[in-house]
Amino acid sequence: MQILPNNHTELRTVLVVKNTEVKLSAVAGDLKKSPSDALVVGVGQGADGPVLLENPLTAKSAEALAESLAALGLTGAADQAHRLPGLPEAGAAVLVLAGVGKVSPGTRIPDEALRRAAGSAVRQLAGVSTVTLALPTPDVAAVAAVAEGAAMGAYSFTEHRSTKDGLKDPVKAVRILTDLAADKALKPVLERASLIGKAVKATRSLVNQPPSHLYPETFADAAKELAKGLPVKVTVWDEKRLEKDGFGGILGVGKGSSRQPRLVKVEYAPAKATAKIALVGKGITFDTGGISLKPHLGMGEMKSDMAGAAVVLNTVLALAELGLPVKATAWLCIAENMPSGSAQRPADVMTIFGGKTVEVLNTDAEGRLVMADGIVAASQEYPDAIIDVATLTGAQLIALGDRTAGVMGADSVTGAIKAAADRAGELVWPMPLPEELRPSLDSQVADIANIGERHGGMMTAAVFLREFVGKDRNGEQIPWAHIDIAGPSFNTGSPYGYTHKQGTGSTVRTLVTYVEDLLAKTA
Ligand code: BES
Ligand code: MN
Ligand code: ZN
Repeated sequence: MQILPNNHTELRTVLVVKNTEVKLSAVAGDLKKSPSDALVVGVGQGADGPVLLENPLTAKSAEALAESLAALGLTGAADQAHRLPGLPEAGAAVLVLAGVGKVSPGTRIPDEALRRAAGSAVRQLAGVSTVTLALPTPDVAAVAAVAEGAAMGAYSFTEHRSTKDGLKDPVKAVRILTDLAADKALKPVLERASLIGKAVKATRSLVNQPPSHLYPETFADAAKELAKGLPVKVTVWDEKRLEKDGFGGILGVGKGSSRQPRLVKVEYAPAKATAKIALVGKGITFDTGGISLKPHLGMGEMKSDMAGAAVVLNTVLALAELGLPVKATAWLCIAENMPSGSAQRPADVMTIFGGKTVEVLNTDAEGRLVMADGIVAASQEYPDAIIDVATLTGAQLIALGDRTAGVMGADSVTGAIKAAADRAGELVWPMPLPEELRPSLDSQVADIANIGERHGGMMTAAVFLREFVGKDRNGEQIPWAHIDIAGPSFNTGSPYGYTHKQGTGSTVRTLVTYVEDLLAKTA
């Protein structure tokens, strides 16, 4: 982080998103030949108590361990990580018994259970340098899950600390012990896991940045910085260009802040592309609510209100790194929502890009205003599908809780997103867009109002966004889906599995998997 003073009283900062990349490899055979600092073995929650899972220890050691599991207080529940002295055959100073949750004989452990077990162990082993994971890997998919969990578990956000006292570095290298180590399919699998981990962690770090440092201008700079060296074009609309082109939603929301808003377009367009998708992300770098001010309690969490933009940015970068044959464009709609003498007022009318007018009855319903601009802009390029990602409503948390994202829109897209999320191990649930909600958004003076029916507010917000989805060349509405990640994007509770506190990086994996599925269908 470099801090450059400018001629304003404020500091202009240049954000560099630091990545804690973990070295992933697969090993087989004698552990003493590839020693590490810790060897992780799985414990499952069986019907009759804890079970020691398949492991590389000698039969004698394994038997002794299996017998002491209950006495050690282990149940095999997820997130348990019990450290013991290393055994002679372990090639490690520490042996770690890691819970994987419920198991039943003859049944494959679900990928997400492995992902979480690996992630939890690696997360909790921060401070240890090299870790060997000896979890059950019956097939390549299981190795992939372990690798992804490990990559996401190794993370920390420490750049604003003045001292390293009491801080532990994330695990640096993870070896996955597997009989499949020699399988040719493993190299791309480990590479993908590493890239996914990188994208998820870059998303978390952007979300974790304090609003003193991450604001529209520095977010746009960070997007350019992250895209460096990749076949990706980044275009930034500053306030003058936003004005000239008529992006009234982004400008209106940004009006109250001394930091000017931005629209950032991130394009990956390989020559061999067989599909074309657009992603739109909500990038409110801080949401005070504006003149419709939020209560102060917990307002700091609103630094995460740019998570959608961070997700779509890092998804497109990951697609480019993976070299997938898809044309993917991310639209980052970035503004800071502040109250001030220049802020928009409740009852103001704004003109969204493309000409539709909105009466702003509540300045805290700002996400849908910036997203409207982005969705109209995305539509003008006739993508096969538009997916928008936003920390849009508190109602999402009421409807689906902290961890499950809501997905709404065209069945063809929402169904594919749900399927992708299931495979990626993320929680997503489809919600309807009931027709009766639309009239609740009627305005007395403009085309539409920015608030409507409060009950089912997540769906009301989606019905608002749908108004801005454009038509394809045949005059049909472009297939579109909206993902509300208000809860899942930011973990206000304890860490679990590969999920740390604060920014989670949620939805990057779902979107990358969605594109992979799409390409598999078009191939
Ligand atoms: N950024 C918030 C939504 C949010 C709330 C995200 C809690 C994460 C956690 C959004 O801009 C907002 O304030 N929405 C309002 C809309 C309402 C005024 C119609 C809300 O949900 O209260
Ligand atoms: Mn708001
Ligand atoms: Zn918001």
